[in-house]
Amino acid sequence: MAEHYFTAAPSSPAATHDVPFRVDGRDLVLQAAAGVFSGTRLDPGTAVLLEHAPRPPATGRLLDLGCGYGPIACALSLRSPAADVVAVDVNERARELTAANAATLGLAVTVTADDDGPFDAIWSNPPIRIGKAALHALLLRWLGRLAPEGVAYLVVQRNLGSDSLQRWLDSVGHPTERLTSVRGYRVLATR
Ligand SMILES: C[S@@+](CC[C@H](N)C(=O)[O-])C[C@H]1O[C@@H](n2cnc3c(N)ncnc32)[C@H](O)[C@@H]1O
Repeated sequence: MAEHYFTAAPSSPAATHDVPFRVDGRDLVLQAAAGVFSGTRLDPGTAVLLEHAPRPPATGRLLDLGCGYGPIACALSLRSPAADVVAVDVNERARELTAANAATLGLAVTVTADDDGPFDAIWSNPPIRIGKAALHALLLRWLGRLAPEGVAYLVVQRNLGSDSLQRWLDSVGHPTERLTSVRGYRVLATR
């Protein structure tokens, strides 16, 4: 049976693939691999988040929640080199790839399995496929680590429940607005 991308320790061979990656007119290449999310190309939802979420603040602690091979964390660090960018993932291969990609690009990204925060902002293409209960628990845990004025930017496919997720976030005390809807993805801002 194929492994899920959120497996903690993938057993599939870690054959890597070049993923072309364009940030602010700069053409870069990241390394992705089997056993991590979207291991051969930039996920279209991630592309929407990077194009349409607000620019990160110049400084502060910024979190990439569920970093995969690190495209969001690397983009945050490229855009805000003076910020303290933290990347977390349950998947150890994802963490290794993010650390290696950041190092190759000369970016200071802290890669870890956990971090107590607080965070000034969070960016995430969250792992919808782990199931609703696990996703809700994950979001509650990390949104609780936002600084008081902090905002989390989430990209969720409309067909995978973005609107019901927005309603749920509102109902549990995280006021959430839809910033945009592009190519079937919603970008949500939640506090
Ligand atoms: C949709 S993928 C996005 C990956 C990457 N940010 C990207 O845009 O390509 C979601 C990520 O969340 C991670 N994930 C799943 N459960 C998690 C958990 N409990 N804690 C942290 N990360 C988790 C998965 O391993 C996966 O890498």
